[in-house]
Amino acid sequence: MPKKIVAANWKMNKTYQEAEAFVTDFSKKILEIKKTGVILCPPFIALFNIHEKLKNTVAEVGAQNMYFEESGAFTSEISADMLKSVGAKYVILGHSERRHIFGETDQVIRKKIDRALEKGLKPIVCLGELLEERKAGKTLEVVKKQFDAAFDGLSKAEMENCIIAYEPVWAIGTGETATPEQASEVHTEIRKMLIEKFDNKTAENVTIQYGGSVKPSNAKELIESKNIDGFLVGGASLDSNHFSDIVHAVEEYLK
Ligand code: PGA
Repeated sequence: MPKKIVAANWKMNKTYQEAEAFVTDFSKKILEIKKTGVILCPPFIALFNIHEKLKNTVAEVGAQNMYFEESGAFTSEISADMLKSVGAKYVILGHSERRHIFGETDQVIRKKIDRALEKGLKPIVCLGELLEERKAGKTLEVVKKQFDAAFDGLSKAEMENCIIAYEPVWAIGTGETATPEQASEVHTEIRKMLIEKFDNKTAENVTIQYGGSVKPSNAKELIESKNIDGFLVGGASLDSNHFSDIVHAVEEYLK
């Protein structure tokens, strides 16, 4: 997978049929994409079909969550092996909606990261502060705590199999994007955390995506900013034109 990666997080949107229609259209729009990594994370019910339909394209599929146990009496949960069996290569973990609506703690998220890595799934690990935390000047403290809980003790190879998504919670689904300076500042700190915990080479190899109201109109200036290696896109990824425009903005930057 290239270093610059754009991922779609559809959240709880699109029926099976709507997902299929999106991919039929979207796959035609990414024919010239060569340098940018593209990942679609649909709801579980559409994973297999989308994986099949994307087979001859640059795009890959990921899930939006999984459970850390291997199998057993965990009604409604989905395991890493199940995700792999339908073609998922990635899994979003620690999204702020999982943290804040469903009460997932740093500890639970860490168990999921460990299991995903053990099973060969690449976690897209989301970190980010709440508005009140930013206002209180605690952004870096919060992000560092989440970072340490997620990555302490991983090997360099394991770390390189993770993608980090910095998603300030106040910018998710609100239309309010972090400015390129605000995002870049935190991304640069995350890169430093990677250097400190691992080394320069590992830090350079990890993709740090930005997420929070990314759209075609702001993708260019964000991708041009230091240490921003791509995007995790919610709302704008539901429209195949908008999402492909964001992918093309990254590809254009790489030319
Ligand atoms: P948004 O969501 O693009 O709708 O702000 C991003 C995310 O939650 O990953």
